[in-house]
Amino acid sequence: PIIARVFSGIQPTGVPHLGNYLGALENWVALQNEYPSVLYSIVDLHSITQPQNPDKLRNNILDMAASLLACGINPEKAILFQQSQVSEHAEFCWILGCLTSMPRLRHLPQWKMKSKQKNEGSVGLYIYPVLQASDILLYKSTHVPVGEDQVQHLELAQDLARIFNLHYGELFPEPQALLSSTRKVKSLRDPSSKMSKSDSQAMATIFITDSPDDIALKIRRAITDFTSEVTFDPQARPGVSNLVTIHAAVARLSVEEAVSAAKGLDTGAYKGLVSEAVIQRLAPIRDEIQRLKADPAHLEALLALGNRRARELAVPMLDEVRHRVGF
Ligand code: ADP
Ligand code: NA
Repeated sequence: PIIARVFSGIQPTGVPHLGNYLGALENWVALQNEYPSVLYSIVDLHSITQPQNPDKLRNNILDMAASLLACGINPEKAILFQQSQVSEHAEFCWILGCLTSMPRLRHLPQWKMKSKQKNEGSVGLYIYPVLQASDILLYKSTHVPVGEDQVQHLELAQDLARIFNLHYGELFPEPQALLSSTRKVKSLRDPSSKMSKSDSQAMATIFITDSPDDIALKIRRAITDFTSEVTFDPQARPGVSNLVTIHAAVARLSVEEAVSAAKGLDTGAYKGLVSEAVIQRLAPIRDEIQRLKADPAHLEALLALGNRRARELAVPMLDEVRHRVGF
């Protein structure tokens, strides 16, 4: 019998920003209540595909663990673990890599984009989507919350499930995408692009640990336009519409409700309202991150427990895979 199981991963690239929280993590919290089995992984193996610093990585892993817990990931409902501590991910990646053709990977968008940026990419970056497939299939996951940018990678995981089953006998369900229905949060400085941690512009990105003053300042400086009334029209008025999107999401309103709350306010006054809503929503998360970070031993113990529970699933699974392959 196939159990409905959710798997998702996030790279330990530092504290998440408001877009990550509203576009992904909020949904992760909801899913842990809806599915009988849920795994969330801090995918540190993925984060060494690009140049990296070991001390920074170690710190980022703990920051991400604290952030996920503070956002509401509950270790009693979801297995929260560190990918590199379950070595079966890497071993299974090798086996799946032997079932993957080079051209299948060459055309995937992230490889094209990132290898071009660096002029030359590593083998690790090239096979990154195979490692993602390994992450997902290792737990016979059935549902994978992803952003649209990850759909093609999930398709590779689906193909590899099929190819493995064909070669070695039915074993893996084909994992389905759970696309987030949340609108993308845009950069505060350039609302034509999404809010991103790698944005080099100051004031463009709100991090979930930003202080109330920082949040208020960033929103006050957000690009809008010369119309003072607040309306929602992402095409013609991307800046103001982004504020409405953010307001609606953090205050759990519909877009219509957010616009009607702005009635009679000019964009300047509306920015004050949006700031208050963001500050209110992030304040408890920020406090909780600080509390968790003050006790790294406790945080490490929580991760160790998650790692152990993940291994309990991964070890027998990979034994079966090895047996099928002929080892
Ligand atoms: P970044 O672009 O900051 O590097 P990632 O690509 O690591 O973020 O994304 C991690 C998760 O957060 C993904 O599920 C992605 O879809 C979601 N996400 C990232 N940026 C945004 C955004 N601006 N709005 C909504 N969701 C986002
Ligand atoms: Na990204």
